[in-house]
Amino acid sequence: MPRTVYVNGRYVPADRAAVHVEDRGYQFSDGVYEVILVRRGRMVDGEPHLARLDRSLAELEIEPPIGRAALEAVLAETVRRNRIVEGFLYIQATRGVAPRDHLFPAKPRASLVCSAKRRTWPEQGAAPAGVTAITVPDVRWGRCDIKSVGLLPNVLAKEKARRAGAAEALLIGDDGTVREGGSSNLWIVDADGGLHTHPLDHHILGGVTRGAVKSLAEGAQLRVSESKFDLETLFGAREAFVTSATSFVKPLVKVDGHTIGDGEVGPVTRRLFDLYVTHTLEGP
Ligand code: PDD
Repeated sequence: MPRTVYVNGRYVPADRAAVHVEDRGYQFSDGVYEVILVRRGRMVDGEPHLARLDRSLAELEIEPPIGRAALEAVLAETVRRNRIVEGFLYIQATRGVAPRDHLFPAKPRASLVCSAKRRTWPEQGAAPAGVTAITVPDVRWGRCDIKSVGLLPNVLAKEKARRAGAAEALLIGDDGTVREGGSSNLWIVDADGGLHTHPLDHHILGGVTRGAVKSLAEGAQLRVSESKFDLETLFGAREAFVTSATSFVKPLVKVDGHTIGDGEVGPVTRRLFDLYVTHTLEGP
C-alpha cells in the first residue's frame, strides 16, 4: 500500500507529495515541525506536542495553517489512511509560498504537511540498550526553544557522531554547559540518585518527552533539578540518558570515550525507561 501524505488540504500518494520550490520552508527554513509518537493507533502526548507547535508558530508570527480541531482530524486521518498502529507522525508548517524575499510576504498562507511512518517501539519489559555519545560545540542560533526546521547544525553534529560510531552528539555551550543532544534532551543522575537536566530557556528545546519523564520521575519520588552542568559533571555522573519522542529514555554509557558510571545501564535510567514505556501505552 503506498503511503499517503497530507499536503495543504489534500491526501496524496507519498511519491507525488510535493511543495512549491518557493516555499519559504525550503528557501529560508522559515517553518516549524513536530514529531509525535503513535502507539496502538493513537498519539502519545498529543496535547503538549500541538501546544508546542502553536507556540513555535506564534514565536515566528506564522498564522496556524488550520485550526486545532481540523489539525487533529488531519492527524487522525493520516494515521488511519496509512494504517499506522505503531509509528510516528511528522508535521511541518511553514510561512508558505512567496517570491523569494527575506521580508515576510504581505499575505502569507502557511503550508502544512503531515505524514506518518510505521516503526516498532519497545514493549513493557523491554531492556534499553546503552549507547555512546560524542560532544561538539553548540553552534546553533539563539532560539533553540523554537522547534524550527533549521536543523543544519544538528544534522552536522549527528553525522559527526555517526562517523565516530556514536548514537548522539551532545551540544556544548560557550560557557561549558552541556545543553542537550542533537535531537534529544540530556539528563544525568548524581551520586545521591538525583536527576539533573538543563533548565528551560532559549538554549534547548523544551522536549515533550522531557516533560513527561520529569512528571514520571517526580511521581516516583525522585528528585529532579533543572540546572546547568558541565562536561566534568557529566563524566562523573552515576548515570546519563537522553530523551525524545523517538528515542524514549536512551541510556548513555560512554561520552567522548569516558565511561559513565560502571558502563552499564543504571537502575534510575532503567526505572524511568519502564515508566515511560508504560506511559506511552497507557498515558493521556
Ligand atoms: N527531536 N532537543 C532537540 C534538539 C530535538 O530535536 C528533540 C526532538 C528533542 C526532544 O523533544 P521531544 O521529547 O519533544 O521529542 C530535544 C525530534 C524527535 C526530531 O527532530 O526528530
